[in-house]
Amino acid sequence: YYSALVNPTTLASYETHLKSLIAVSSQGNIDWIVHDVDSSLIQQVLLRNGCPDAQVVDLHEGQFIMPGFIDTHTHAPQVPNLGTGYQYELLDWLEKFTFPLEAKFKDVEFAKAIYPSVVKRFIASGTTTCCYYGSLHLDSSKALADTAHSLGQRALIGKCNMDRHCPSYYIEDSADASVKDTHAFIAHVRSLSPGPSNNPNNPLIYPVLTPRFAISCTRNLLEALQVVATSDPHLHIQTHISENVKEIQFTKELYPECEHYAGVYDRYGLLRNNTILAHAVHLNDKEIELVAKRKAGVSHCPTSNFNLRSGMAQIGKYLDRGVKVGLGTDVSGGFSSSMLVAMRNASIASTVVALQNDPAGASGNEEGKFSNRQLPLATLFYLATKGGAEVCALDHQTGSLEPGKSFDALIVDVRDGAGTSGGTRNPTLWGSSGSILDDMLGQFVFCGDDRNISAVFVQGKQVGGTSYTSKE
Ligand code: GUN
Ligand code: FE
Repeated sequence: YYSALVNPTTLASYETHLKSLIAVSSQGNIDWIVHDVDSSLIQQVLLRNGCPDAQVVDLHEGQFIMPGFIDTHTHAPQVPNLGTGYQYELLDWLEKFTFPLEAKFKDVEFAKAIYPSVVKRFIASGTTTCCYYGSLHLDSSKALADTAHSLGQRALIGKCNMDRHCPSYYIEDSADASVKDTHAFIAHVRSLSPGPSNNPNNPLIYPVLTPRFAISCTRNLLEALQVVATSDPHLHIQTHISENVKEIQFTKELYPECEHYAGVYDRYGLLRNNTILAHAVHLNDKEIELVAKRKAGVSHCPTSNFNLRSGMAQIGKYLDRGVKVGLGTDVSGGFSSSMLVAMRNASIASTVVALQNDPAGASGNEEGKFSNRQLPLATLFYLATKGGAEVCALDHQTGSLEPGKSFDALIVDVRDGAGTSGGTRNPTLWGSSGSILDDMLGQFVFCGDDRNISAVFVQGKQVGGTSYTSKE
């Protein structure tokens, strides 16, 4: 690919290059990247790198390549509920809106009818790696994994474990039954991987151990899941933590022996470097320290935290204390499958936190500090890509465009406007406030949508985008 490139580097910075040559192998991995290549020198660079016959895709001005989004937390079976139920807070919302819908996935034919459109929707949003919750059902969760696999998305997929404090029509029979189905689920997902036959060490689909949250799990169940996790250190783990004040209160009543909410998961060995903790809105200082020490990651889901009035996570503080953070759409607590929307709401949440701290908006500008400060574009971009890959413990493989990683990427197009203002803003104005690519990234993040995503690549293969025509 001969293209402009925007790539995350650190929490506070990204790199931009107007003329990069990105070499992608037939296995879909990035072999090398050379920047500042004048078009007259492309052949020379190819020759020097031993691939004179490579096919070069030359992108247009107004397009750029960036790593695909990593959605660290969302619920596939909740998609049909998008945009509804926000008159309730978490626990009532689960009971009145969410469990009744998820229960319908007992019917695997229903799941098979819904899931393809769900996965396509996330791919169209530019999400190349998606960390999904399924429902509690084994067969439907397998169908979700099959769907993501056949549509070519990189995905982490969990079958929920939940054996108490759920309605009688949507609960597992026992801890034993839950664990038995979990083993069967993990085996099935791993039989899909190694995904592409040409890429045996780089699976596209991973199973995730998914105790829904402490409230819905008995001690017996958590103990049994601890055994599963301990015997399988590479197995990902995901759960919800400290989302809503009433939820936290109830959790403390159920687990009085634990010092705090994070302590429940820690007691059962569920906090480790590949654990994804959704929400984490109200962690106290001790919990933040514990999560950082265990190298577990936080999935920040601001859209959902606003909709369900859960609160505003102090993400700047977590970052300053060394916690890994990514972003999640948390559909359908969140009303959008788009990580662009998650980024915008993360920006607003950080701004409100900063303004609460200092209504004049003057605080928190200390260099290198994120607490009580509006998260800048570079940080939002990092959280949505590289930060998400770190939270999913897949940063060796994806999250940024670097030699050795997979080509999981988007071609973004802001030429003719679509959701961005490109159509009304004369392109000659781009860059008036800095670099052209800074402006293009900002317009995409704050004003863009699916229409600006012309191609979505996972492991080098196009799986979506407006220029995509599927074989089906
Ligand atoms: N806590 C337990 N289950 C859920 C869920 O489905 N969504 C959200 N936002 N929080 C939860
Ligand atoms: Fe959630």
